[in-house]
Parts: sequence; structure tokens; C-alpha cells
Amino acid sequence: MTSIHIAAEVGEISERVLLPGDPVRAKIIAENFLTDVHQYTAIRNIFGFTGFYKGERVSVQATGMGVPSISIYLHELIEVFGARKLIRVGTCGGMSESVNLRDVIIAQGSSTDSSIVNQVFNGAVNFSLLPDFNLLRTAANVADELKLPVKVGNVICVDLFYNDYDDPNGTFGDGKRTLNDKLRRHGVLAVEMESAALYLHTAAANVQALGIFTVSDDLWRGEHCTTSERESSFNDMIRIALETIIR
Ligand code: HPA
Repeated sequence: MTSIHIAAEVGEISERVLLPGDPVRAKIIAENFLTDVHQYTAIRNIFGFTGFYKGERVSVQATGMGVPSISIYLHELIEVFGARKLIRVGTCGGMSESVNLRDVIIAQGSSTDSSIVNQVFNGAVNFSLLPDFNLLRTAANVADELKLPVKVGNVICVDLFYNDYDDPNGTFGDGKRTLNDKLRRHGVLAVEMESAALYLHTAAANVQALGIFTVSDDLWRGEHCTTSERESSFNDMIRIALETIIR
């Protein structure tokens, strides 16, 4: 074991890594999309696999949920195992009327209520959390080629899954507009919980990253995907991510 949370030897993990939050999804991706797969870690039941996609070596590492958890895996993947291209494949909540269940969203930027940006910059700047432009461009092109519609825009990365952003009497509410209303007005498409860490840490390490998400919950209409709906739209997102990561 060469890092605290990932029981792999250096060299067992590809420079190209897909990052689902859920360990079971990591297993499903490895089993259904990769060949010659081997599992390199199961510490805390947070699984990681390396295999091949169209002849290229790709790893799939689960990250758990939220900024602190993904931050640990990002650090070890990049600093210990040499990851250089990281694509998060996760779920998100649709924020606005234009976003529907099962849509695939590419995060062109990440806004956040997490303190991690301030921890790095000491409040001196509101650092823009951005993906790698080449990965973003490639993913948009791949989606076009595969004829899989995607929406590209800003997402909000939150620390609290259960928050009161839609409550007019919540911490932000002034009786007129909730925080979610404001975010919608500013074009935020979706809410999730890891992109800020992904874009911050990869910027600092000068490695490439992108977040792609499937809408599993619709905060606007109050709807949720069924398990089978989740799976089929999840597969579209994985195809886009894998085609992007090998280019
Ligand atoms: N909130 C935050 N993260 C999420 C959600 C949500 O509604 N759905 C999927 N990830």
C-alpha cells in the first residue's frame, strides 16, 4: 500500500481516471465498459479498478460524497499515483425549468458555498473554479458525435445536501427570493457536492479535470429518477466520459 486511502502500488492506476462517488457505480463502470479489469483497492469499501477502454488504460476510482471525501482521493491520485486527467461522473439535482431528469450536464464552471476556496486563498480572491478547456471542448464534441444531448454551464457545489436554499425563511431568504432563485437567475443549472474540490485541487496541481453529471433529482419540479432511469442515462454519461478521457 502506498497511500493511506488507496491500497494500490504506484503504476497500478492509470493517468486517466473516472471518478464516480459511489463505489458500486465504480464496479458497474469497470465491469460493463472496461476490459482486463483488476481491482486495486477496497479500503473502506471505496473501490478502485484499472482496465482498458478501446485499448487505452483507464482507472475508475470511487470518491465518496462531498468535498472533504473527494479531496482525499484527488490528493492521493494526483500526488502519489500520478493521475493527470480526471473526469468526475456523478449525479446532480436539476435547478431550473430548462433542466430535466436524466439530462447530462457538463460543468463549465463551479460555484460553491464550500470554504475550501477561502482556505487556499485566505479570502483574498473569489477564485473561479473551472475545468480544463480541452477536456470541456472534447466532451462537448464527443457528445455531438454520439448524438447525446448535453447542457453545458455553471453548477453549484454545496456542502449540505439537506439545506434550506429553497426556503424563503431560510438563512438567505428575504421573503422575496430564495438562494436557489438567485442561483437560477444567474444561470446555474444544477447542484452537486464535489466539483469545487475537483476544479480547485486540479488547478493547483496543473492537471486536467472535468465534471459530468446526470440529473437524478429535479429540484424545480420535485421529481426523482427511478433506479432503471438512473442507469440508462448514467450509461450515456459514461460513454461521453470514456471517449473524452482517451482522446
Ligand atoms: N443536491 C446535492 N447533490 C446532489 C443532488 C442534490 O439534490 N442530487 C444529486 N446530487
